[in-house]
Amino acid sequence: MSDETFSGYLDASATAPLRPEARTAMLAVWDAGPGNASSVHSFGHRARSVVDESRAALAAALGVRPGEIVFTSGGTEANNLALIGAALASPRGRHIVTTPLEHLSVLESCRFLERVHGFEVAFAPVNDRGRVTVGGVMSLVRPDTTLVSIGLANAEIGTVQPVAEIGAALDERFAGSGTAGGGRPLLHTDAVQAAASLPVSLGALGWPGAGVDLMSVASHKFGGPQGVGALVVCAGIPIEPLLHGGGQERGARSGTENVAGIAGFAAAVTALHREGVGTRAVALAASRDALVVRVADRVPGARLTGDPSERLPGHASFVIDSVSGESVLVALDASGFAVSSGSACAAGSDEPSPVLLAVGVPPELARTAIRFSLPAPLPVTLLDRLVEVVVREVGASVLPARSERE
Ligand SMILES: Cc1ncc(COP(=O)(O)O)c(C=O)c1O
Repeated sequence: MSDETFSGYLDASATAPLRPEARTAMLAVWDAGPGNASSVHSFGHRARSVVDESRAALAAALGVRPGEIVFTSGGTEANNLALIGAALASPRGRHIVTTPLEHLSVLESCRFLERVHGFEVAFAPVNDRGRVTVGGVMSLVRPDTTLVSIGLANAEIGTVQPVAEIGAALDERFAGSGTAGGGRPLLHTDAVQAAASLPVSLGALGWPGAGVDLMSVASHKFGGPQGVGALVVCAGIPIEPLLHGGGQERGARSGTENVAGIAGFAAAVTALHREGVGTRAVALAASRDALVVRVADRVPGARLTGDPSERLPGHASFVIDSVSGESVLVALDASGFAVSSGSACAAGSDEPSPVLLAVGVPPELARTAIRFSLPAPLPVTLLDRLVEVVVREVGASVLPARSERE
């Protein structure tokens, strides 16, 4: 995205702006006419080619084989399929290890497995920056653990977890117990936030055959369309489908493929990789660091949440003592800056964020959360303007002292 097209949209963690390459790819599919990828006529063949080429492009970008990608309706479905589909298909026990910081699509899938299938779920402890330790996770892993699910990066506080190290520790603990799925607990990572802004190499995560076995990604965080995503499933791992029907996606996910969405998804990921995820991450981190320093300097009571270094490159989240986060958000919006109070799913809720509570932020302070997630590096003039507006609006949104409120 160029500086010229950049606006004050600073909520990329909720959804990233559509990349022009994704738009072009989708328009090409729609303009080409009808086509169901399962039809045997030439229209169907054309749609099938789009899906196959997109699958190959996505696989190349993620460093996996095309057959390891299951297209879904997004990150939520990918996480449900990973948790429920992989856990139910696994011959191991009924025990899951995860963290209290996971996205609701992971946590609610765990609750479903507890409620309906008698699973037990253990939550790894996190420190006040939202990091788990390898030891903390491994201390909960039992001989009958089915699945370990650790999100690669948290949407609200941006903290990145040591997933590769957890994979290596699982491999070591269960060395000699046979193949993944039978011999050792499966490792799933929700990479919906991380994969679009960190140079996520599945090779570095131990793929294939070791480390991570399942990874969730979502198109709209890469600048592709909403409503499409994928679960990457390492070859040989059985998955119990959640959607039953025509057997698309090699039986793992029935339903007519979202051909245009899949094309847009692959085009966005390919464009991002062409641009260079690592280079982009460095530029984003420089903008983020400048924003963090300036807010910390100029806004009394502002505190960065999450880990200061092990965090998403374009992500800066704060709590600000004695300020109404919601009022600041509304005022920033009126000044042309779209930010968030936390995860998009929690927006509109009066409840303090469970993620902030889990990292020890008191409920009152958790209600003051503000998250900036940059879709692109901030031009200096925009950063200057943003900081001025934040300083002004935070000043205007200071709550009366508690004694005056009661
Ligand atoms: C970490 C994480 N996982 C999963 C999801 C859900 O993805 P989707 O919006 O594609 O359903 C999100 C959405 O923001 C997320 O941040």
